[in-house]
Amino acid sequence: MEKMPYQPDMDRPMTATTTATVTSDWRNALPVRMGKKVTLRELEISDAPALFAMLTPEEVSRFISPPPTTVEGFEKFITWARAERAAGRYACFAVVPHGMSTAVGLFQVRQLEAGFATAEWGFALGSAFWGTGMFIDGGQLVVDFAVETLNVGRLEARACVANGRGNGALRKLGAVQEGVLRRSFLKNGQFLDQMLWSILAEEWRQAKAVWGQGVIH
Ligand SMILES: CC(C)(COP(=O)(O)OP(=O)(O)OC[C@H]1O[C@@H](n2cnc3c(N)ncnc32)[C@H](O)[C@@H]1OP(=O)(O)O)[C@@H](O)C(=O)NCCC(=O)NCCS
Repeated sequence: MEKMPYQPDMDRPMTATTTATVTSDWRNALPVRMGKKVTLRELEISDAPALFAMLTPEEVSRFISPPPTTVEGFEKFITWARAERAAGRYACFAVVPHGMSTAVGLFQVRQLEAGFATAEWGFALGSAFWGTGMFIDGGQLVVDFAVETLNVGRLEARACVANGRGNGALRKLGAVQEGVLRRSFLKNGQFLDQMLWSILAEEWRQAKAVWGQGVIH
């Protein structure tokens, strides 16, 4: 999700406007999901310094919306994320590797229409954790949460065409490449092309029947 739904000027009280088609207590608190390599859990304000350190370096942020530029900015983002979760519009998981207590990245899912029938997801990890299998581990948990808990029927992802790792990661997870969104993402004054990917709920359930046993808790 290059275009993060959070913007600094959104730091204001939220009101729940979404219709009640999503029925789950995830609005009260995100579930903790444990994979083989990582645990996913709700963002905490105390994650702000670690997320600032992990997500602001150029190699991480170059193909995504500019992350907050200060620890305080991440604290505001986390406050916003929790309010959006309570309003039933958005879910953001912290990625915590086994053996650690600090967050090294995040996965986020936002509804594209009320009730989450279609949604978009995005992700970022600190570069020290790239190529470790943590993406695929956490990504499976998040897509499963989207499909089985949020009732997402179509989960979209957009990745800059030039973002080799982002596109490679989506392909590995089983996302289907649909086409190029020309000049759809403004970064540093330049419009970049993005690849549009999707995962459909029925495809996900079919794939999960093959690999999912013992992975989803
Ligand atoms: C996107 C991200 C979470 C993926 O995590 P990761 O640990 O790097 O992903 P993985 O290593 O599991 O998978 C990436 C795959 O892309 C492949 N890849 C790397 N560069 C590539 C390139 N230029 N072209 C094609 N594939 C490429 C890798 O080889 C790997 O596949 P493999 O495991 O079969 O070898 C991480 O790279 C990241 O945080 N990037 C910065 C933020 C970002 O761009 N987010 C994505 C927005 S859509």
